[in-house]
Amino acid sequence: MTLRHMTCIEDLRQVARRKVPRAFFDYAEAGSYSQETLHANRGDLERIKLRQRVLVDVSQRELATTIIGEKAALPLALAPIGLCGMQHGDGEILACRAAQAAGIPFTLSTMSICSIEDVAEATGKPFWFQLYVIRDRGFIKALIERAAAARCSALVLTVDLQVLGQRHCDIRNGMTVPPEIRIGNVIDMATKPAWAFSVLRGKRKTFGNLAGHVKGMEDVTSLAQWTASQFDPTLNWKDVEWIKSLWPGKLILKGILDVEDAKIAAKTGAAAMVVSNHGGRQLDGASSSISALPKIADAVGSEIEIMFDGGIRSGQDVMRALALGARSCMIGRSYIYGLGAYGQAGVAKAIELIGKELDVTMALTGTRSLRDIDRQVIAQL
Ligand SMILES: Cc1cc2nc3c(=O)[nH]c(=O)nc-3n(C[C@H](O)[C@H](O)[C@H](O)COP(=O)(O)O)c2cc1C
Repeated sequence: MTLRHMTCIEDLRQVARRKVPRAFFDYAEAGSYSQETLHANRGDLERIKLRQRVLVDVSQRELATTIIGEKAALPLALAPIGLCGMQHGDGEILACRAAQAAGIPFTLSTMSICSIEDVAEATGKPFWFQLYVIRDRGFIKALIERAAAARCSALVLTVDLQVLGQRHCDIRNGMTVPPEIRIGNVIDMATKPAWAFSVLRGKRKTFGNLAGHVKGMEDVTSLAQWTASQFDPTLNWKDVEWIKSLWPGKLILKGILDVEDAKIAAKTGAAAMVVSNHGGRQLDGASSSISALPKIADAVGSEIEIMFDGGIRSGQDVMRALALGARSCMIGRSYIYGLGAYGQAGVAKAIELIGKELDVTMALTGTRSLRDIDRQVIAQL
């Protein structure tokens, strides 16, 4: 099947599954432990039914908006994805270009393959940088300075990964960077020549933001181990103040799922928060992001901009999240499938599909503008 025949995100997923080596495809797909929260993210979205409204003049529809004051063609942003460049060589650069061409924000992960500087050099406009706080605070300060020097327009501080949730498949597949040399992995990669070619040709094969910046850690395998042991379990609200004092631009707090936390987050002066459970990859047994959203929106929606992620696979899902109080959504796996399937064109396709679905969903629910979308659009929760 060619790109032209891709009708939905699931089509892109099927192609990515064939093209991307198993260890990396599974890494993207998986949730933590028994994946209850991963499944709840999708299940709870699907249960929300929309109201079909008729005989409303919907000839003029407006999908453009602003996200933290930045113009966006859609209420959508690309979420930070670690090892994005292992789904396709130079994946971060390609995804950033696709997002910029579509007029929406791209977020580069701390755990990316291409570095902040690589992406800045290869793309035209500012992007967002996601920060993981690790124990070495000198390194964090330097990373924030690098993001500012690269003209990143927002810092996305991820607050739900002080300790790493386990994904069983990563252990079974020997998922390391670079991949563990196992006979199964080698055979698998040998049967994915387009992937192998793109990754070999790519700028880097390791964590671009860390390599060369962490003393004595030039060797990539120990670098991966270093990273896993470096996430900082002491991270707390005081650190948010410290990070805010270092970062000159807008701050987004990503990974809020509880109303009490949302109330504290709203007082930090951050420009936005992302209601998120890390795509079901951290606390297994946590509520779905969509079930947490309305309570948080009710509590703090008038004080701070609310973004949402977790399970978005269509424009209908974006509509559900907007109706329950989000101003915009982030997508993770939806664009990663596009990237693994067709590189930059696949990411562009994922954004286009979701944008068109949202447009038609607006028409069929009788909404002309994003401002009209509220709980009235929902038939049943
Ligand atoms: C493969 C993968 C890697 C991720 N890496 C990061 C990361 O480096 N930093 C981060 O804040 N979130 C990370 N996330 C979480 C996403 O930013 C986002 O919250 C999640 O993917 C949203 O759920 P969705 O994939 O169902 O859209 C990752 C998610 C996936 C699937």
